[in-house]
Amino acid sequence: MAQCKVVHKPEMKEAARRNKDVINATYKNLVVSDKMKDIAKNRTYFIRTYGCQANIRDEETIAGILEYAGFKKANQIQDANVVILNTCAVRENAEDKVFGEIGALKSLKTKDSDCVIAICGCMIQQKHIVDIIQDKYRQVDLLFGTHNIDNLLNLLEEVYEKKVRVIDVESKMGEVIENMPSLRLEKYKAFVNIMYGCDKFCTYCIVPYTRGKERSRKMEDILKECEDLVNKGYQEITLLGQNVNAYGKDLHDGSSFAQLMENVTKLGISRLRFTTSHPWDFTDEMIDIIAKYDNIMPAIHLPVQSGNDEILRLMGRRYTSKQYKELVDKMKAKIPNLALTTDIIVGFPNETYEQFQDTLKMVEYVQYDGAFTFIYSPRVGTPAAKMNDNVTDEEKHKRFDELVKVVEKYATIKANALVGKTLKVLVDGASKKNKNVLSGYSEENKLVHFVGDPSLVGKIVKVKIKESHLYSVIGDLVDD
Ligand code: 5AD
Ligand code: SF4
Repeated sequence: MAQCKVVHKPEMKEAARRNKDVINATYKNLVVSDKMKDIAKNRTYFIRTYGCQANIRDEETIAGILEYAGFKKANQIQDANVVILNTCAVRENAEDKVFGEIGALKSLKTKDSDCVIAICGCMIQQKHIVDIIQDKYRQVDLLFGTHNIDNLLNLLEEVYEKKVRVIDVESKMGEVIENMPSLRLEKYKAFVNIMYGCDKFCTYCIVPYTRGKERSRKMEDILKECEDLVNKGYQEITLLGQNVNAYGKDLHDGSSFAQLMENVTKLGISRLRFTTSHPWDFTDEMIDIIAKYDNIMPAIHLPVQSGNDEILRLMGRRYTSKQYKELVDKMKAKIPNLALTTDIIVGFPNETYEQFQDTLKMVEYVQYDGAFTFIYSPRVGTPAAKMNDNVTDEEKHKRFDELVKVVEKYATIKANALVGKTLKVLVDGASKKNKNVLSGYSEENKLVHFVGDPSLVGKIVKVKIKESHLYSVIGDLVDD
């Protein structure tokens, strides 16, 4: 049995630490050792990503680093020499899936003892998870965290050369590392990180512990990346952060998210999106900029989590239902054709049925175009996980079903309202079954299907909608 070298293990207290220091960017020049080049030659990798866009962007960086060293992408997980599971910790069911997958990967190791299994991402930033994997899942060779992706090649070299298992997962506030290679998964749409981490510490959420302190990239570095994407023919950029509204606050150089958006629009990108926004610090200036520029898409994801003031207070969300509604009213008044989506949690500890009804009322008030709905999942080490909960699982599931019905009612109404309208669609690709059935997203972020020539992929076309479904609409191509 291979020995285990533990460099760092995560630690909740350290993960929660914050100071006011400005985190300066590190411009790193990735160096590939001769040994690593030798290891990478004739070897393949496969990355499976769970969770949010931040993880997808991490996958692109990990793939970029591996290809830079000489690894090639395997077509399927069974053929890969290096398998990486890039994990999510937001809810328990995401973690259960990963444990199932690690179990299944054991057969790869039996088939090919040279195969390296690595796990990274938010789930691994929790000590109890690292302990379980170290003790019970000995087929796993490498655990690395969200803060040391840039060190991946050194860690892999150690696993291959010394034949040891390596655990290097540190809890820290984190850095801003620039210049890492990246292999973008899509050709016309790109994610661009504008900041990392989160300082909001909503009481149910593990993210501030797994991803560290809120830290912004420098405006000029972001603009350089966006300009490069425009020059390469990208049509859509999504600016990414746990809470993009907070962009720039930590830099103390006057940078703000509104200003960043305005600067990116001026680079000539056809479509600009952003995610996610916290309702607490969404400024009027941001609303004005979104309204002013046609290339900023009228689609805002604005997680509400609950419609009840007491639950919002216990969640540490920093706004009341009245303040949230006022913000929505302002957005709707200023931004034409605005599509609003949200995240909602049901069954927060001790939520009463009456409090839950306030959430339904919120959905009725806002009439969301769509919502991601979740049953509360206690996360080890968060304040909410320490609250004694008197609501049964059965009751939580009943409320969840009730909520989904109301969400779907309004999503259907919103989708029906698109029938007869002509939408601008960025064509993503053709259906696997029929290459003339194309699909893409409208400006409002609605999935649109229509018949067209595959040469339209990557272009923005007009589609007149004739039929609506809950999660997509169908239409006909309109000639310009
Ligand atoms: N339980 C359930 N849902 C959660 N989310 C975050 N933490 C939890 C949790 N502990 C949801 C929130 C957040 C989305 C990304 O995931 O709604 O906005
Ligand atoms: Fe989690 Fe709240 Fe930060 Fe979102 S804003 S990542 S819900 S702590």
